[in-house]
Amino acid sequence: MKVVVIGSGGREHALCCALLNSPKVSKIYCIPGNAGTNDIAENVDIDPSDFRKLEVFIKEKNIDQVIIGPEKPLVDGITDFLEKENIKVFGPNKIASKLEGSKIFTKKICEKYNIPTAKFGIFNNKLEANKFFDSCKYPIVVKADGLASGKGVYICENKIKASLAVDEILDGKFGKTNEVLIEEFLEGEEMSFFIISDGKMFKQFGTAQDHKRVFEGDKGKNTGGMGAYSPSRLESKDLNKKILNKIVIPTLKGLEELNTEFKGFLYVGLMIVEGEPFLIEYNVRMGDPECQTILPKLKTDFYEIIDACINKTLNKINIEWFDDKSICIVMCSKGYPDKFEKEIEIRNLKKISLKKNEFIFHAGTKTIDNKIYSNGGRVLNFVIRSDEFQEGRNGIFKLINQLNWEGGFFRKDIGYKVID
Ligand code: AMP
Ligand code: GLY
Repeated sequence: MKVVVIGSGGREHALCCALLNSPKVSKIYCIPGNAGTNDIAENVDIDPSDFRKLEVFIKEKNIDQVIIGPEKPLVDGITDFLEKENIKVFGPNKIASKLEGSKIFTKKICEKYNIPTAKFGIFNNKLEANKFFDSCKYPIVVKADGLASGKGVYICENKIKASLAVDEILDGKFGKTNEVLIEEFLEGEEMSFFIISDGKMFKQFGTAQDHKRVFEGDKGKNTGGMGAYSPSRLESKDLNKKILNKIVIPTLKGLEELNTEFKGFLYVGLMIVEGEPFLIEYNVRMGDPECQTILPKLKTDFYEIIDACINKTLNKINIEWFDDKSICIVMCSKGYPDKFEKEIEIRNLKKISLKKNEFIFHAGTKTIDNKIYSNGGRVLNFVIRSDEFQEGRNGIFKLINQLNWEGGFFRKDIGYKVID
C-alpha cells in the first residue's frame, strides 16, 4: 500500500516511522517532509496549502491512504477537498476542524452541552472588554479566536496587560477579527488526552504531559512544546471516564447535531483541577511532541488502525500498547522561540547508533549534499521507551552528549513531575 503523510515536523517523522513498521506499507511519501522523513520515505516538494497540486500527485501515484499531520490544512478543508475527488483521507473535515480553528465555536459547544471549561465571555469591542476588566479576578486569560501557532493566548496579571492583549487581537495581530475570548484562569495540572475516531466510534489513544515553556521550571515564553512524557501521571480509570463522559462524548454529539462527524485524532487539552477535568482547548490532530512520545508505545499495526478509521471499522481493531514509559526531549535552535539562526550543520547525528527502544525524530532539519542542517526552531526529538522515566531521561542525555551540537539547547528537566 502507498501512503502520503502531509507535514514536516517531528510528529510527521514519527507517523512515517510507525507506518514503516507495517508489512502492508510498500511506499511512503512525505509532503514536504524533513531530513529524517527523507531517509525512510520520499519527500515531495509540494506546498500543503496547494490542494489541487496535492490531488494531482496523489492520483498520479495511486495513493491508498493520506494522513494529515498539521492543523492548518485541516482547518482549511483539505479533507473535504480530497474526499470529493474520491481520495481516502485520515483527518477531520472542515466543520469538525473548527474545534481547533475557532475557540469560540468550541466554547459555544461547551455551553450548549454543559461541558466543563473555564468560565468565559465573548467580546466584540474594546470598551466592553475594558469595563469587564474592572470587575474581574487576575490573572485572566485573553485569547484570539482562530489559529495562532500557539501565540494567541495571553495570561494577564493585571488590567493593563489584559487591555493590551485585547487591543492586539482586535487590531488584527492574528488575522482580521471582531471577537475576542476572555476566560477565567484555571489553576491545576495540564494533561493531553487523545482519542482516535472513525466517525462512528472512537478509542483512546494515550495520554501525555507536554512542557510548553521554553526554560526549565516552566519559565519563559510558550513554545510548540519542549518535551513530553507518556502516560500522564494523572491518568486513572476514574479520570478517563470523567473525560469521556463529560467532555468527549458530548462534543461528538454536538458535531452529530451539526450533521457532521469526527474522523481523525482528537487532542483534548485539559486542566485537571482537584481531580476534575476542564477543557482548555481541542486540537484536531496529534500533538507535537506528544505524538513522538506516544507512537513508539504502539504495538498494533498503525496502517491498519488508520485504514479502519477511513473505512469506519475501528470497532474491529484492538489497539495494543507497550506498558513502559516514554519520554521525549526536544532539541531546539539557540534563540528559539525568538530569533534563531538556520542552516547550522548537525555533524554527529549519523554517528549515533540507537537501540530498539531509542528514537530520534527530526523536525526542523534539511539535507544539503548529504549533510544535515537545522532548518527551524524545534530541530530534533530524542525519545526513549523504558521501565522508568528517569532511566529514559538519563539515556537521552547520553544520546544528546554524543550529538554534541553547539547550535542547540534543550530543557534538562522534562518529566520533573514524575522524576525525583
Ligand atoms: P491553548 O493554546 O488554548 O492551549 O493555551 C496555551 C496554554 O495557555 C495552555 O496550554 C495553558 O497552559 C494556558 N491556558 C490556556 N487557557 C488557560 C486557562 N483558562 N487557565 C489557565 N491556563 C490556560
Ligand atoms: N504540543 C502542543 C500541540 O501540539 O499543540
